[in-house]
Amino acid sequence: MSPAPVPRLTRRRAERLRARWDLQQERYITDREARFEMMIEALDGVLPRRARVLDLGCGTGSLSERVIDRFPRVKVVAIDRDPLLLAIGRAALGDRGGRLTWVDADLRAPDWPRGLPRGRFDAAVTSTAMHWLTSAELTRLYRVLGRRIRPGGIFLNADSIRTRRKSPRLRRILERGARRRNARLPGAVGDSWSDWWTSALHEPGLAEEAALHRSRFPRSHHGTRTADLAGHERSLRRAGFREVAVIWSRGRSRVLAAVR
Ligand SMILES: C[S@@+](CC[C@H](N)C(=O)[O-])C[C@H]1O[C@@H](n2cnc3c(N)ncnc32)[C@H](O)[C@@H]1O
Repeated sequence: MSPAPVPRLTRRRAERLRARWDLQQERYITDREARFEMMIEALDGVLPRRARVLDLGCGTGSLSERVIDRFPRVKVVAIDRDPLLLAIGRAALGDRGGRLTWVDADLRAPDWPRGLPRGRFDAAVTSTAMHWLTSAELTRLYRVLGRRIRPGGIFLNADSIRTRRKSPRLRRILERGARRRNARLPGAVGDSWSDWWTSALHEPGLAEEAALHRSRFPRSHHGTRTADLAGHERSLRRAGFREVAVIWSRGRSRVLAAVR
């Protein structure tokens, strides 16, 4: 007897896992959609018609999809080091008629830009991913972006970014307000992070990717001691970005923009 062929992930199952990923992310980042809208608005002010955009730490391609849908001639290169999330994104979205390229690369590796098409990009976007990198790794990444984003192009980072300013009372007041606001929010509540991962890792069509995921991520992610806002700003300016500013924020949740 030969082993049963491994079923590959169908588009329908991928779309379902992807939709559940979005709800799971929104459970923790209730302003996720507002951040995406702000980023799209900023891109609208910079992108030429046939622009090229990088999505760093793309996951299942939530932000890539929004960029592709909003700008009909733009091409996106979506990069992540998680084979499982990439497989779900690719099975659900495909290559959008040649406009969406998926790249499996570790943004901490010095040679990650080798996986990119040649030439400069008009923008790089990233959502909830940069906090996985240490300050030193971010500084190296920003140096690469300084070289690969054209002058006048833009970098947009939506993430939880802390500042050094201490305001514990204000923080508690805002956190209480946010909890109350979230409790009033209508609509579905997503999976928890661990429930989503349990489902995805047991999806029969993703057995190979799940094995690779486990070997690359032997422990679950608990965050990295990463740069604060001043650290991001300093590294971006040193990398050649002329203007750096927070263009949207709610507590620590921010969209940081930098013009090359
Ligand atoms: C919380 S998820 C966010 C995914 C997606 N941007 C979104 O908003 O749904 C963080 C992503 O960053 C990716 N990531 C973290 N460190 C990375 C690295 N060193 N290289 C490439 N991707 C990385 C993870 O694999 C994961 O897909």
